[in-house]
Amino acid sequence: MARVYNFSAGPATMPLPVLEEIQAELLDYKGSGMSVMEMSHRSKVFQQIADEAEADLRELMGIPDNYKVLFIQGGATLQFSMIPMNLMKNGVADYIVTGAWSKKAATEAKKFGKVNIVATSADKNFSYIPDCSDLAIDDDADYVYICENETIHGTTFQTLPNTKGKILVADQSSMFLSKPCNVSDYGMIYGGVQKNIGPAGLSIVIIREDLIREDIAENTPVYMRYDTHANAGSMYNTPNCWAIYVCGKVFKYLKSIGGLEAMNKINEEKAAILYDFLDNSKMFHGTVEKEFRSLMNVPFVTGDADKDAAVVAATKAAGFDNLKGHKSVGGLRASIYNAMPIEGVKALVDFLKKYEEENA
Ligand SMILES: Cc1ncc(COP(=O)(O)O)c(C=O)c1O
Repeated sequence: MARVYNFSAGPATMPLPVLEEIQAELLDYKGSGMSVMEMSHRSKVFQQIADEAEADLRELMGIPDNYKVLFIQGGATLQFSMIPMNLMKNGVADYIVTGAWSKKAATEAKKFGKVNIVATSADKNFSYIPDCSDLAIDDDADYVYICENETIHGTTFQTLPNTKGKILVADQSSMFLSKPCNVSDYGMIYGGVQKNIGPAGLSIVIIREDLIREDIAENTPVYMRYDTHANAGSMYNTPNCWAIYVCGKVFKYLKSIGGLEAMNKINEEKAAILYDFLDNSKMFHGTVEKEFRSLMNVPFVTGDADKDAAVVAATKAAGFDNLKGHKSVGGLRASIYNAMPIEGVKALVDFLKKYEEENA
């Protein structure tokens, strides 16, 4: 077996103990005589998998009882439209645009109502998070929207915006479960799971019960109504059983290593190793203002596109995969999600140090 250190932004590396457990259960899940991927979602055995997944997630994040946890297909992208379709009552929402993903979400929301861009960091290619302590929040805004960690641009909110009493909706796709989260600060948290949790094809939506409304536009497709999923325990139709199963394994794994406090410590340690290197390097530098750097996605450049490409090729040859930066930022990007071991970050930094010495 030759596993590489996989720095992909998503789908992304998974914890090895989880993959091994899944491998062991692949043909016969706990004496059921079948694989989870062959199982009816209406079976007792699968219902238990789904119930345990939800219970473990609730425990990990401390999700209050008045929040629903929904497992929905369609990726985080489907939420870009489900959110305005379900949460816009007055037809107005305030968006904070800090990168590619919040920009996409705002563009989609404009199809359903009035969208105010109340803050943005577009002026400096999304390399920082704007001051959100005193924004011109619309009196009629149904919610304030953020992408809490911008996967492409590598920025993260250190403090949540002052929404002046409006509910906060956050895309946590690329930081889900990376650190403790006070769920009651939000009206809704959601994310695609394929970055920090499990396989692609599933989004988790954590939404305050009173925000799940029935009085939305009658022509809203049934699948795109939160009440459909909430009333059916996320089983209105066939869910992504496999992804729910794998996510459940990851939740148990996180619990076993000490939960989100412990995970956050490890993530801070990993990120510090990489950022310290970048801060002291003459060849490489990070693209994000220090204060707003992500613990999960670390974009960096040499300042020369040809050199960047040569470094990416060299890293790949040395067993470090998927370090090419997104085309809108260029350079390199190391996604160091929960499942990236600290050894992987140390090995990458050792490699880059040596590369710099040899190519100075
Ligand atoms: C922060 C963020 N939001 C949304 C998305 C879109 O997710 P999906 O591909 O699951 O639709 C991504 C995907 O990469 C992302 O990083």
